[in-house]
Amino acid sequence: MSIFPFFRKPQIKKNQTRLSGMSKSTRWDSEDSESKQLPIYQHRNKLTQAVKNSPFLVVTGETGSGKTTQLPQYLHRAGFCKYGKIAITQPRRVAAITVAQRVAQEMRCPLGREVGYQVRFDDCTSQDTVVKYMTDGCLLREVLADPGLSQYSVVILDEIHERSLNTDILLGLLKKIFSNPAKATKGRAFPLKVVVMSATLESDKLSSFLGDCPVFAIPGRTFPVTCTFGSAIGPKDIESTAYVKEVVKMAFDVHTSEVAGDILVFLTGQSEIERACDLLFEKAETVDYRFDVQDPTVEGLLILPLYGSMPTDQQRQIFQPPPPGIRKCVVATNIAATSLTINGIKYIIDSGFVKQLNHNSRVGMDILEVVPISKSEAQQRAGRAGRISAGKCFRIYTKEFWEKSMPEYTIPEIQRTSLTAVVLTLKCLGVNDVISFPYLDRPEERFILEALKQLYQFDAIDRRGRVTQLGELMVEFPLHPGLTRSLLKAASLGCQDLLLPVAAMLSVENIFIRPGRPEKQKEADKKHRGLATRVGSMNDFATLLSIFQSCKSSDRPSAWCKENWIHWRALKSAFSVETQLREILLRLQQVQNFPVETFDGNKSELLRQCLCTGYFTNVARRSMGKVFCTMDGHGSMVHIHPSSSLFDQEAELNWVIFHDVLVTSRVYIRTVCPIRYEWVKDLLPKLHEVDVYELSSVAREEVTDKEMKKWETREAAKRQPGF
Ligand code: CDP
Ligand code: MG
Repeated sequence: MSIFPFFRKPQIKKNQTRLSGMSKSTRWDSEDSESKQLPIYQHRNKLTQAVKNSPFLVVTGETGSGKTTQLPQYLHRAGFCKYGKIAITQPRRVAAITVAQRVAQEMRCPLGREVGYQVRFDDCTSQDTVVKYMTDGCLLREVLADPGLSQYSVVILDEIHERSLNTDILLGLLKKIFSNPAKATKGRAFPLKVVVMSATLESDKLSSFLGDCPVFAIPGRTFPVTCTFGSAIGPKDIESTAYVKEVVKMAFDVHTSEVAGDILVFLTGQSEIERACDLLFEKAETVDYRFDVQDPTVEGLLILPLYGSMPTDQQRQIFQPPPPGIRKCVVATNIAATSLTINGIKYIIDSGFVKQLNHNSRVGMDILEVVPISKSEAQQRAGRAGRISAGKCFRIYTKEFWEKSMPEYTIPEIQRTSLTAVVLTLKCLGVNDVISFPYLDRPEERFILEALKQLYQFDAIDRRGRVTQLGELMVEFPLHPGLTRSLLKAASLGCQDLLLPVAAMLSVENIFIRPGRPEKQKEADKKHRGLATRVGSMNDFATLLSIFQSCKSSDRPSAWCKENWIHWRALKSAFSVETQLREILLRLQQVQNFPVETFDGNKSELLRQCLCTGYFTNVARRSMGKVFCTMDGHGSMVHIHPSSSLFDQEAELNWVIFHDVLVTSRVYIRTVCPIRYEWVKDLLPKLHEVDVYELSSVAREEVTDKEMKKWETREAAKRQPGF
């Protein structure tokens, strides 16, 4: 990964005093006074009172008004922690971590003590933690273990406007559990308080959803932002990636021609952001500050990337003010639109795109794709420039793109992604009728049915929609149900050591380093190919396993990674994730009756057969030449992605399973493994045997006993013992 040092005028380098930062204590003092400047500060007493007075409260306020960082501190000071912890949920892990860091600093305690965070596979809390920032997914898991949330006195669902799937589900669950005063106070000295925080003005809708609860609107101050449209990206460029070069050009123009003030650039993901930072740095190096830059006080450019999987110490840098004379330019994903507020931003460069998880009906799977943002999102992005003074927003797309390609609002995640995992969670919580669950915005019934169908195919629910023993085990794993299914199969065969590392490696960011320079790229490709051939038979899952094992057994694992062009940081996370998954499995094996099966085939085929149990929904058969056809009823034509070790071997393959799909002009399958038809022969009929109408009645619990008897007899005949 490249490092982006800041570029500054050479003569300034000598004047080191201008660079030396403030001492730690003065920084803290300044943070204290900074937090007193926030719009929320004047309302602190009324706010804590409002939380006390009502079981549900909606709090709205402009982004940056201090909701996320301040309200938990006010509640802490007002004594709410006497009755339990304060939980604050965030849809994004980076937000949970960085905000917790900031609040720990403001409360002058080490992170993980009074203030901590918990995100998937990373728990930074202790016995002393009373203010706990966490992802919405983590709180959902806690509801599963303790529906009364007895550890907490206040639960704050933050960033409701993001409309993440887990936050939406939590909102419905908390309404369902705590709207009933008897339930809300059961076994508690103090009834749970639920605060729902949102940046936008959906407060009426939220309030009426929560039984017309009170709304506390924090009056904000914002300054006008002038928006201009560009000429580069029009409605025809939806699939082009030309926007990266265009935002770089625009950011550079702003740097050279606009008065001092920091820049925030919106792009869609890590590799793009790193490329943009590289390009921008190259350009910045050519600047002669005596002639090229309009504002004489601007003497350098500090370029900082910001995306989800960035190391935390680098994330912290984003919030620090730049040295005097230096203009900061943060190149970020959508995370900087509302979840994180960076002070000092005066200019926005908006690419107009975002990376979004969408259900793709062409392939019948959820796919991360780059799509145009909505108009409301574009306004939110622009607004980030008007926090301290009047700002400017440069949109690189045309007015026509705005009118023709951008929807008015972003569709909530619950209405556009797979519901398999949340439906299983709801079922395990005893919410049988998943159709009439209180959704803030109802997902289409076909998405709910699709989820039920998948759960049935994985044996997580029976035909009556009841959770099976296997389903109860599956819900414990923070993984995709298919991967969990494979893992549990492996555990029942006693070969979890093969699957645990694979599951861990698939749960962390991409482990393969892709250098920018072509000659380095060749070197990395060669190393990666070498790692794949070491496995013997070509199989991307086995390659992941082999990398995990080789690195773990190496004396100098970080050097091993460097030599093989593997991200050491990602591997370290994978080691930790594997340990955590192993712990979950061990805990379950101690308390549950785990069926034990035997395996009488070739040992080397064990991994692939276990994978088939969870990935039979992702089976493809060679159709002709290099084209494969999926077997899930969509019959999509797919190609093996060039990053796969099987890319050049298509001719010898007939059947494969794959982990995910990338859609560009073609549909590519990635992380691929060859299989034998016999292994999926008995499973494939499951893809087609489920009748949607049956499931529809299962979803509504209207199945008659007579119908049920018929299915059960049929099922019993088909089923074999074990998993
Ligand atoms: O939640 P809301 O958008 O209302 O505001 P916030 O996130 O609580 O931000 C309040 C202030 O804290 C802003 O000025 C942020 O820049 C600052 N902040 C920070 O300096 N470092 C963080 N890690 C998070 C927030
Ligand atoms: Mg916030």
